[in-house]
Amino acid sequence: MIGEHACSKQSRDRSRSHAVAGRSPEIIMGYDVGRRLALAAAVAAVAFWAAETRGAAAWGGAARPAAPCMYIFGDSLVDNGNNNDILSLARANYRPYGIDFREGPPGRFTNGRTMVDFLSDMLGLRPPLVPPYAAARPADLPRGANFASGASGILPDTGNNLGGHYPLSEQVEHFREAVGAMGNASAFRGNATRLEEHLGRCIFYVGMGSNDYLNNYFMADYYDTAARYSPRDYAALLLQGYAAQLAELYGLGARKFVVAGVGLIGCIPYELARMNSNDSQPSSSGPDTTPSVGGEDISISIGIGGGGGFGSGGDGGVRSSPTSSNTSGGGAAGNAKPTPPDGAAGACNETINSAIAIFNRGLLEMVKRFNSRGGGPQPQQMRGARFVFLDTVQSGRDLAANAAAHGFAVLDRGCCGVGRNNGQITCLPLQRPCDDRGAYLFWDAFHPTEAANRIYAAKAFASNNTAEVYPINVSQLAAL
Ligand SMILES: *[C@@H]1O[C@H](CO)[C@@H](O)[C@H](O)[C@H]1NC(C)=O
Ligand SMILES: *[C@@H]1O[C@H](CO)[C@@H](O)[C@H](O)[C@H]1NC(C)=O
Ligand SMILES: *[C@@H]1O[C@H](CO)[C@@H](O)[C@H](O)[C@H]1NC(C)=O
Ligand SMILES: *[C@@H]1O[C@H](CO)[C@@H](O)[C@H](O)[C@H]1NC(C)=O
Ligand SMILES: *[C@@H]1O[C@H](CO)[C@@H](O)[C@H](O)[C@H]1NC(C)=O
Ligand SMILES: *[C@@H]1O[C@H](CO)[C@@H](O)[C@H](O)[C@H]1NC(C)=O
Ligand SMILES: *[C@@H]1O[C@H](CO)[C@@H](O)[C@H](O)[C@H]1NC(C)=O
Repeated sequence: MIGEHACSKQSRDRSRSHAVAGRSPEIIMGYDVGRRLALAAAVAAVAFWAAETRGAAAWGGAARPAAPCMYIFGDSLVDNGNNNDILSLARANYRPYGIDFREGPPGRFTNGRTMVDFLSDMLGLRPPLVPPYAAARPADLPRGANFASGASGILPDTGNNLGGHYPLSEQVEHFREAVGAMGNASAFRGNATRLEEHLGRCIFYVGMGSNDYLNNYFMADYYDTAARYSPRDYAALLLQGYAAQLAELYGLGARKFVVAGVGLIGCIPYELARMNSNDSQPSSSGPDTTPSVGGEDISISIGIGGGGGFGSGGDGGVRSSPTSSNTSGGGAAGNAKPTPPDGAAGACNETINSAIAIFNRGLLEMVKRFNSRGGGPQPQQMRGARFVFLDTVQSGRDLAANAAAHGFAVLDRGCCGVGRNNGQITCLPLQRPCDDRGAYLFWDAFHPTEAANRIYAAKAFASNNTAEVYPINVSQLAAL
């Protein structure tokens, strides 16, 4: 299966010291990703908060921002380039990733903007995009920074099969450095109270967990967690670690949290491809052995992020219109493989979805506990903090149910990828993606398209449905 071979421990070395200015991880660059890296698969979860773009009018103006700043923690669903200079298969700084993104350097695991790119715009930040911490200048920090890293998870080992990345705990450490730097910034003049007041108005978006399943629990050849924990115990382990990191952020000044649940990763193209395969270990026959594209051995890298999923639960599959996409198979580029018949778009992997459901239920309970007085873990029970839970599964279902209305025609295969559902291997360097990207829910085997991200962001920001965003939407959170 994809991702299992991936890279060795040497690649796990990564720079742990990350100075605030002039950061540049030590290892890096010398690594020739173009060679034969085995595939990495990652994941992406989709932030499927579905929805409408109707909130757009409200946030289009240049008026006062709803929130003065935004800090982002997560995986490849929201990473905007933090992995670019580290030794990792979880990178997206090559074409066609970013093919529809012209506003800055590459690094996003999609064709255009991510869900948090839309969210920061809706919140009124100007300029609308928050820089990756790896490239942020000290002067950028008070307005926000993105600490997310493809392949990362709540557990430190998660994603090691893909190489370097910054687990949640390191992302939080980077934020600690950022706070230290801001304390000296002229805007606050060493006045800790003023900095605290500022951070208290910022939105802290945190979306973790997908890789703890895709690039850990459900990757038994590389990790032993599934043998050691039941799905329930594993979810409890993750939530315990998650709560501790959220408490760290609280201790550093965070008050307005947006916590995203994990999507239906049992329904992403990568899993659908495996479900529809007769052999559970297709590595001997499928293109997921080291692929060769354009006559050159390439590896794939891609990272992962969260899992996304829309999915329709039991019968998962929304049929695609296979005629609209081009696939370059494991052979020469341009040698399109036949798309599977409609009937091959089978059900989602419910083993995975049910494990995710346990985690999401626990996360929602955690948010409720944190929001009630005295509900936190330590730091004085996180008094004064407000948490919003984004139900990715619910939003994804809503989006799938109303796909046509949003212009989506293809829900079960990536716009760019290889093999069944364009999901057996992720989008390769220089591979030609589909032309009608706005009609695809998924960009690659794991990650949503920009078109889907726009809708999820609109849901998070403006939905009035507490099944999607609980207990209030992000617009309301910002206004508190
Ligand atoms: C902030 O200023 C203090 C005192 O001058 C200094 O010790 C510290 O290193 C500075 N922190 C940063 C991140 O520049
Ligand atoms: C620090 O900032 C707070 C809030 O703006 C202000 O009330 C306080 O007087 C400031 N303290 C100093 C020493 O300037
Ligand atoms: C669902 O995923 C699990 C974990 O990867 C795997 O063991 C199982 O075989 C999959 N189920 C099917 C029907 O493919
Ligand atoms: C699985 O294998 C059986 C027997 O070879 C074949 O009839 C069936 O079509 C295959 N199913 C898929 C999804 O490939
Ligand atoms: C598929 O590839 C062919 C040949 O490269 C190209 O002419 C056609 O426009 C492509 N179609 C789509 C939907 O990408
Ligand atoms: C947010 O939720 C509230 C309450 O349901 C609703 O009135 C409002 O329209 C929603 N959207 C925005 C942008 O506030
Ligand atoms: C939520 O928003 C939708 C669409 O704007 C609207 O039709 C519906 O009445 C609203 N529901 C509530 C409870 O405000």
